[in-house]
Amino acid sequence: MIVVKGPQKVSGSVKVSGAKNSVLPIMCAALLTKEKVELENVPNLNDVKVLINIIKQLGRDVSMNGDRLILHEMEKLNYSNHVPSEASSIRYSLLLLGSLLSTSKSITLPMPGGCNFSDRPIDVHLYGLKQLGANIIEGENHLVANTIGLKGTEITLRFPSVGATENLLIASVLAEGETILRNVAREPEIDDLVKFLNELGAKITYLGPNTMKIEGVPALEKKGVTYKIIPDRIEAATFAVLGALASRDSLTIENFVVEHNLVFLNILQRIGVNFEIISPNSLKVYHSPNLVATSICTEVYPGLPTDIQPILAVLLTQAEGESIIEDSIYPTRFQYAKYLEKMGAHISLFEGGICIQGKTSLEGAEVFSSDLRGGISVLLAGLIAKGETVIKNSYQIFRGYSELSLKLEKIGAEVEEKVEEVGVLAY
Ligand code: EPZ
Repeated sequence: MIVVKGPQKVSGSVKVSGAKNSVLPIMCAALLTKEKVELENVPNLNDVKVLINIIKQLGRDVSMNGDRLILHEMEKLNYSNHVPSEASSIRYSLLLLGSLLSTSKSITLPMPGGCNFSDRPIDVHLYGLKQLGANIIEGENHLVANTIGLKGTEITLRFPSVGATENLLIASVLAEGETILRNVAREPEIDDLVKFLNELGAKITYLGPNTMKIEGVPALEKKGVTYKIIPDRIEAATFAVLGALASRDSLTIENFVVEHNLVFLNILQRIGVNFEIISPNSLKVYHSPNLVATSICTEVYPGLPTDIQPILAVLLTQAEGESIIEDSIYPTRFQYAKYLEKMGAHISLFEGGICIQGKTSLEGAEVFSSDLRGGISVLLAGLIAKGETVIKNSYQIFRGYSELSLKLEKIGAEVEEKVEEVGVLAY
């Protein structure tokens, strides 16, 4: 758990780390080549550590030093096709389907895990992989898939799913012939994956804003590729909100890629947050005590990301008037709201969204980190609330925020990480 004594003030500058939602798919894609691959700007996150362990158990030597991760060269592409059980603790083990069907022609994969804020079906992934020539059996806890060889074809995604776009992209790179993917997601992390794969020797081009062409190649033979992961735009937005809520005067966020966060910046402007764009990769946010309410709705990129709505919710508890937040991607992603309410916010739920009556002063309380972004939402609230906030299940937060306590300390905020002794249940 985490204990926060509020209210606290922050100032100075903070540097955003590499993107969780980019490095995970890129690590899965790197399994397509037997050559050595070096990744830079890799965030220090639980999910990354879990995936490293999985890849090692599949038979690939991996080492991590600071923010550099190396997948060492292999004699030949030869992975175990049994993915270890810890794969069920993260969502993106799902992308091993694309990698292992391409290289080992078969895979047994525990059902993926990750944030459980909503039912998260995988039908778009499975539909596309079957189109490419995979046979897939869905068990209760496992997926078993095999192929005699993936073959390029035309696939239209029912929904521009980020994960499905990435899985089908990975599965198409070594497939025989050409693949056309229509209605694909275009999040910046997807473009990062495309750039990485093309650097390895893949042939991926865009035929339009949401259409990709992949010409299958027999192998990815480029040697000595070193690739730098893009900054984490969700972490960047989190610190921007902290700057507006709690900066003594201002907070500068380095590696804030303005281009990746345009809709978010428009919303900050609309509600009255004072900020200055210092450069294409740096934002200065000033303390903004006079916020006004607004209505927002999440969408696929370039719309407002669903991952940012729990973070904006805290900010809107400090805005005068009635705010509405709707989530068109995950309509039930509001578990955090009851904990903000417990801290004094006035929030009412409706189908697909919440209504926030602001401005309310917040008080410390014992709360729970329901998932990664729900957790950071109550942590931000704890930093501006009067008194002590205890956040249970806080490991969720460290799944997506690298070196968080150190970064907060550097800008003058203190959060205490504690382990609570709980009795062992005897079965
Ligand atoms: C990615 O998840 C991100 N995770 C999520 O971030 C993010 O919330 C999400 O994209 C949306 O932007 C990573 O990148 C590791 P989707 P993903 O497939 O790929 C439906 C965070 O906080 N859908 O684009 O799982 C689905 O139910 C995490 O960092 C199907 O119906 O998201 C949802 O409503 C949480 N069938 C919508 O599409 C499918 O087969 C978007 O899901 C796949 C998805």
